[in-house]
Amino acid sequence: MELPGLAFAVWMFICFYASVNNYPSGKVREACTSMIPCHGSSPQLLPEHTITVNWTEFKPGDNIEVHLSGPDFEGFFIQARDAEHLDSPAVGSFMLVDRRLSQLLTCGRTKNSAVSHTSKTKKKYIKVYWIAPGNAPKRVQFLATVVKKYKIFWVKIPGPIVSQPNVPSPTTPLHATTEAMSTSHQISYLSKPFNASGCGSMKFCIRNPSNCDPESASCFFLSFQQEKRSVFIEMSGPSEGYLAFALSHDQWMGGDDAYLCVNEDHHVYISTAYLKGRSPPVLYSENALEDVSWRLVDGVLQCSFRRSIHLPAYKGRFNLDGSYYIFLADGEASEGGLIYKHRRQPLITNRMYNVTGLPQDIGGSRSPRLIKAHGVLMFVAWITAVSIGVIVARFFKPVWSHSFLFGKEMWFQVHRILMLTTVMLTSISFVLPFIYRGGWSQQAGFHPYLGCTVMSLTIFQLLMAGFRPSRHAPRRQLFNWFHWSAGTTARILAVVTMFLGMDLPALDLPDPWDTYTMIGFVAWHVGIDVLLEIHSYCLVRKVEVIEDDRIQILQSLTSAEAEGRLFKQIVLTIYVCGNIVFLFAFLAAINQI
Ligand code: HEM
Ligand SMILES: *[C@@H]1O[C@H](CO)[C@@H](O)[C@H](O)[C@H]1NC(C)=O
Ligand SMILES: *[C@@H]1O[C@H](CO)[C@@H](O)[C@H](O)[C@H]1NC(C)=O
Ligand SMILES: *[C@@H]1O[C@H](CO)[C@@H](O)[C@H](O)[C@H]1NC(C)=O
Repeated sequence: MELPGLAFAVWMFICFYASVNNYPSGKVREACTSMIPCHGSSPQLLPEHTITVNWTEFKPGDNIEVHLSGPDFEGFFIQARDAEHLDSPAVGSFMLVDRRLSQLLTCGRTKNSAVSHTSKTKKKYIKVYWIAPGNAPKRVQFLATVVKKYKIFWVKIPGPIVSQPNVPSPTTPLHATTEAMSTSHQISYLSKPFNASGCGSMKFCIRNPSNCDPESASCFFLSFQQEKRSVFIEMSGPSEGYLAFALSHDQWMGGDDAYLCVNEDHHVYISTAYLKGRSPPVLYSENALEDVSWRLVDGVLQCSFRRSIHLPAYKGRFNLDGSYYIFLADGEASEGGLIYKHRRQPLITNRMYNVTGLPQDIGGSRSPRLIKAHGVLMFVAWITAVSIGVIVARFFKPVWSHSFLFGKEMWFQVHRILMLTTVMLTSISFVLPFIYRGGWSQQAGFHPYLGCTVMSLTIFQLLMAGFRPSRHAPRRQLFNWFHWSAGTTARILAVVTMFLGMDLPALDLPDPWDTYTMIGFVAWHVGIDVLLEIHSYCLVRKVEVIEDDRIQILQSLTSAEAEGRLFKQIVLTIYVCGNIVFLFAFLAAINQI
């Protein structure tokens, strides 16, 4: 569990789309806020259907029976909302009576906060239960949208208002209730952005990139500041959708305590959730947070709140004086406040931290160490080792054939060492993503398939080289041909594999820098290759011309060869330098992630 770098699987901070999928129009998400079915016509005015309840008073946790009835209808959509703010998100959750006729939907931050039809079959009557949440507004109104036929529908048919005891009755003028309202809505707007002063001395901070300023447009920031029995938390980052952090006992998803700030129509809502295995987060109806405020300026989302260190009344919520891995994720949210799975790998701390312990100022990585090692080893093998090894075999045979290393020709030894290095690095690096994933990766596109092909060709090359026929054997020609074509195919595929690997979520190098740099490397390599190829061709021609003259044969031949040798060695030196610059650029990029 604690193997460092064994980061968690897909951290599915998922969309709540699941329950919406079988909605025939597929548009329920939009309907969450507006309650308008996207059926391309305008709603009817005088409603024919009515909503009734069995009781008009409730306390948190009470069930109220809600009925919708009227002439035959095909579709419906029911929500409960704060009666004083009918444009605010749905409150409370529903429970079904008949699963064939109705289904639960999640609107905004509250699970099961709406009910809709399951099919177009005609019905006259629907019954569901509404469960009052702990943080319910004083007065709640039921609203329903009813679709009679595709183009004939009513939107937000007003239903009965139910209220908590001791609340002025609905006939009381509204201003009488405003005082009660303002205490239940303590969300406030932050007037200025957070700052990092006090990080590491007064508060525990996580910043990505390290030491960035939360006011800047590319800084992810999370801080915990202990104040007696509570902790004040600030979270900030460039996100149009949501920001979230979670406390976890391990580096994998599951059993985690999560805090989300979601931008819904330019308002930020703060919720808490329990991450249960690889399934959508279970939102708590009560978040038990205080002093909530937020700010949304120039695409930077900021929110802050206070939480007490111990929350004994809320099981599933972690005590803040333990040690945890901390995740920081961002992603998109839709209009209705639904959150989608983060696009990038979330930031994750490399070990457990006690946020109420000694204040620290740390960074984190968006990529697991195993995958970083995979990228590094593959780059070393397929950018540097293989390229130099092939150039040496192709152009330095005549140059280095008279110098020997360990009893073999120099060019052959260098080629063999570099190629064995490639095989070794590739084989080690190949298993790392499998260890990380614990199996075959579903979200890596073609990269793993190409990668496996490259691996197979590499092994094939190794076996073939091991069993190569002797120099003058008749099958030697065949070997040469196979060796060349399998090797070239492997290299071309390896380049494609690297192109694809660099943009995978688990190790996403900066775009479009990575693509251009890789194109630069290919151009550099091909350019040098062509230069050496042309040079060899000219050299052969020169030697032929000299041979025709038949005069100073011996001497000129060696001087031409010597000249060619010097040129090749200079080009090789320049090539190796350039190659290493490219390699270091990539390794530095991986180090930054
Ligand atoms: C020719 C060189 C490469 C080969 C043969 C190769 C091979 C593979 C294979 C077979 C897998 C799949 C493992 C699985 O399904 O669990 C994989 C995964 C991966 N590779 Fe490579 N790879 C190469 C280069 C690279 C490079 C250069 C990078 C990045 C800079 C990279 C990034 C990744 C990532 C991020 C994954 C994990 C995807 C995931 O599970 O989320 N690879 N690689
Ligand atoms: C209303 O219906 C709910 C759910 O069936 C029930 O628990 C509650 O007791 C009912 N209230 C009254 C007053 O009948
Ligand atoms: C940083 O933020 C704190 C708390 O909001 C504030 O008291 C302090 O003055 C700020 N410091 C700077 C340099 O803005
Ligand atoms: C975390 O720090 C607090 C305050 O120093 C301490 O009381 C608590 O025992 C620590 N928890 C762990 C798990 O070390």
